[in-house]
Amino acid sequence: PTYKEPYRPQYHFSPHHNWTNDPNGLVYYKGEYHLFYQYNPMGNTWGHMSWAHAVSKDLLHWQPLALAIPEDEKNMIFSGSCVVDKNNSSGFAQKPGQIPLIAVYTAHIIPDKSKPDDYMQTQHIAYSLDDGSTWTKYSGNPVLDLHKKDFRDPKVFWYERGKKWIMVTVLPNEHIVQFHGSPDLKTWTHLSDFGPAGDVSGIWECPDLLQVPVDGHTGKGKWVLMNSQQFTMQYFVGEFDGTVFHNENPADTILRPDYGPDFYAGITYNNLPAGQDPVLIGWANNWKYAQAIPTSPWRSAMSLPRSLQLKKTGNTWTLLQHPVKALKNLRGAVVEWKNKSTSSELVFPAKGQVLELDAELIPATAGNCGIRLAADDGLGIIISYNAATQQLSIDRSKTGNIHFDNQFAAVTSATARVPLQAGKLSLHAFLDKSILEVYANDGATVLTTQLFPAANLDGIVFFSEEGTTKILSTRVWALKSIWQ
Ligand code: FRU
Repeated sequence: PTYKEPYRPQYHFSPHHNWTNDPNGLVYYKGEYHLFYQYNPMGNTWGHMSWAHAVSKDLLHWQPLALAIPEDEKNMIFSGSCVVDKNNSSGFAQKPGQIPLIAVYTAHIIPDKSKPDDYMQTQHIAYSLDDGSTWTKYSGNPVLDLHKKDFRDPKVFWYERGKKWIMVTVLPNEHIVQFHGSPDLKTWTHLSDFGPAGDVSGIWECPDLLQVPVDGHTGKGKWVLMNSQQFTMQYFVGEFDGTVFHNENPADTILRPDYGPDFYAGITYNNLPAGQDPVLIGWANNWKYAQAIPTSPWRSAMSLPRSLQLKKTGNTWTLLQHPVKALKNLRGAVVEWKNKSTSSELVFPAKGQVLELDAELIPATAGNCGIRLAADDGLGIIISYNAATQQLSIDRSKTGNIHFDNQFAAVTSATARVPLQAGKLSLHAFLDKSILEVYANDGATVLTTQLFPAANLDGIVFFSEEGTTKILSTRVWALKSIWQ
């Protein structure tokens, strides 16, 4: 059965079969959103890394295409990005008016296969002259070689003010993001370094630098620099002058695009139509246990695509994230509640493991209150809020199948600070079989969590442990599968 296996996400992208990790090469071109992704053509765990390919017109319904950039005898093809070379700065076009698409990625070279830890990483490019269908590796590769073992994940974009390409890469162990500039994508000059900064508890990977509009304003907005660090992500907000990134958030503030355990390697789209907010996609998994999750014949999925804006509170800029609007087209019938309250438990009159839930609560002033999804018989994933500590947490310890891996069983909960807004808590949750994404307070805080519940765990239960919680409104939609 296609896309009907246990735990298979119904509206998150996952490959039909085999392993995936990071999204790569996100680029919009000629009416299509391209999604390349780290892929093992040979199996369901990490290895033989290559770029697989899918396209979509709405960022939700994906059409799988042929493997785009396969590994070769020398190199595995690690993460990177894609640009539209409108002016043929690279010179790859073979006839007038032809526009090359250029993929910039890390070549992971293991000179002696018996010593896989003695690798080198350099930046390579490949080009497509048929709008992304087929790819040719550039004969002059590498285009950037620092003679480093760890140096990877190039995010390239066109910097209009300075009329040049900018490449953002990381030195993972040094906790440094590097900026390089180029007129033609083939020759690169070092511009500056950023870091160590913020969270340096794990190696840095997959950086991105982009302009994000400020909520309620038109225009380009502020610059956001983000990176992954095992096993989560962080971002900085400030200005980029074409050479240096200046962080404007307080130096001791660590901000995360996602506070759940399963959002990693997120990057944004290049070349979006003017006026469209940036779109971020991450890998909905965690290297601690990624290769052990109990799914077959595929392993891992992408997060929902999220539109980005910024807002300022006090002297701190925060990202606002909203799942792309097209998701509304997947909505089936709605079940609605208004003005309920509970001081123990209330069962919502709808069920499902493939749904969207939008709720507004006035939490009890003490104790925990919230919602259990994929619920039955005391089981379920618990979304709970504590008004005294202002903490929102997701707890998957009672979701059934958690003991397939020690690390997974050990990472049972995640927490983020979510201040009430005018005394209210708004929760927008997307449950999709084995992925839960919770957007709190209009997308200011997001938590993404994997769970592997039995198919019959499908209840929705509101609870309030000490005192009364008001449920001002709740709407739940069954969502249609994108794979039908
Ligand atoms: C992040 C990462 C990248 C690397 C890729 C290899 O998840 O480790 O740094 O390019 O995966 O598959």
